[in-house]
Amino acid sequence: MSKQFIIGLIAGVVICGVVGGLIGLSMVGKKATVEPPDWETYLITKLKNLEIPESPAPTIPIGTTDEDLLQGGEHYNHHCAVCHDLEGDADSAFAKGFYPPVSDLTSENVQRYSDQQLKWIVDNGIRYTGMPGWNGIIDDVTQWKIVHYMRALANPEKAGQLEAILKERGLWKALAPVDEHHEPEEAAEHEHPEGEHHH
Ligand code: HEC
Repeated sequence: MSKQFIIGLIAGVVICGVVGGLIGLSMVGKKATVEPPDWETYLITKLKNLEIPESPAPTIPIGTTDEDLLQGGEHYNHHCAVCHDLEGDADSAFAKGFYPPVSDLTSENVQRYSDQQLKWIVDNGIRYTGMPGWNGIIDDVTQWKIVHYMRALANPEKAGQLEAILKERGLWKALAPVDEHHEPEEAAEHEHPEGEHHH
């Protein structure tokens, strides 16, 4: 390798670094309420598909019976619908107010991930976006049920059937209560036997 080549190479690396840094800096302190340009969405989608690892397969098989899907849906509505919407299509001003905007879970960009990658995303979240990691908040089995439910959301017929049942059960609302979320309140009530309130 000639000396010139090496100097050229180093200069190239430095210039790329500086230009990249300037592009990065120019993204900070800008409005969140605009749509990202197509090239940005395209590049970042490609990168995420390469970078997001596969979670290990579940140690116990997670069923996809309607009851499993409904449980996934119940937890989805409780935890996720506030941002992604009940239908998963992120079709609200709130969802578009994020930058990058909240993902449409029924879109090809999201459905293209493997089940294992979707599980990883739910578990770990996505850095520098509004997508939180649910590790320690939602247990693994439930996370897998939510993954299967996200597949069902992309199938209009199935999604419609599940929606009808969840509506019947009064669970078609964001932040809908799920069973475990009741327990602390009930337990708290038991700790206050009658009469304790009188002093
Ligand atoms: C506080 C708002 C918020 C909540 C709550 C939330 N998300 Fe997200 N989610 C986001 C945002 C913002 C993105 C876009 C991230 C990106 O562009 O990479 C996202 C992206 C995703 C993606 C796709 C990632 C991609 O590459 O487009 C999946 C899958 C996902 N969320 C699932 C869920 C699930 C399941 C839940 C509930 C357990 C949930 N999210 C709760 C904000 C949220």
